[in-house]
Amino acid sequence: MKRTYLIYLLIVSVFYSCSYVNEDDLTEDVVIVDLVTYEANIKTIMDTNCISCHNSPPINGAPMSLTTFSDVKNSVENRNLIERISANDASVMPAGGPRLPQNLIDLVIQWETEGLEEN
Ligand code: HEC
Repeated sequence: MKRTYLIYLLIVSVFYSCSYVNEDDLTEDVVIVDLVTYEANIKTIMDTNCISCHNSPPINGAPMSLTTFSDVKNSVENRNLIERISANDASVMPAGGPRLPQNLIDLVIQWETEGLEEN
């Protein structure tokens, strides 16, 4: 009887420690963000918010296209793309606003920090 009780306790404690490990793993998965790349993250942001003007060829007075990886990379490096999407005044892109949600702006900033990778 005593032995059965001990085995029961052992099983319960093993079960508990397992479920705690699983919980930690799940939390880590949510916190760790993969490397931001053009194909995985940035292209969708541009397609949804920018190419209505920055198409190929650009329209509505936009000076350049943002339809390819090299277009967007070049605009981050030479046309202040990050400053323009982060602006809090009339210079903000998309032109005429509204400003992009902050999490999307942060993704573009992270993309630059991580080296403007394509894939
Ligand atoms: C409604 C049309 C429109 C949309 C949508 C739009 N833009 Fe623009 N964009 C323009 C126009 C017009 C200009 C040129 C005038 C200016 O610089 O404000 C411009 C200029 C820019 C410039 C400066 C280029 C230079 O060489 O000076 C950047 C960078 C830019 N846009 C990025 C973006 C990004 C990124 C998006 C999407 C988040 C976006 N734009 C959405 C119309 C637009």
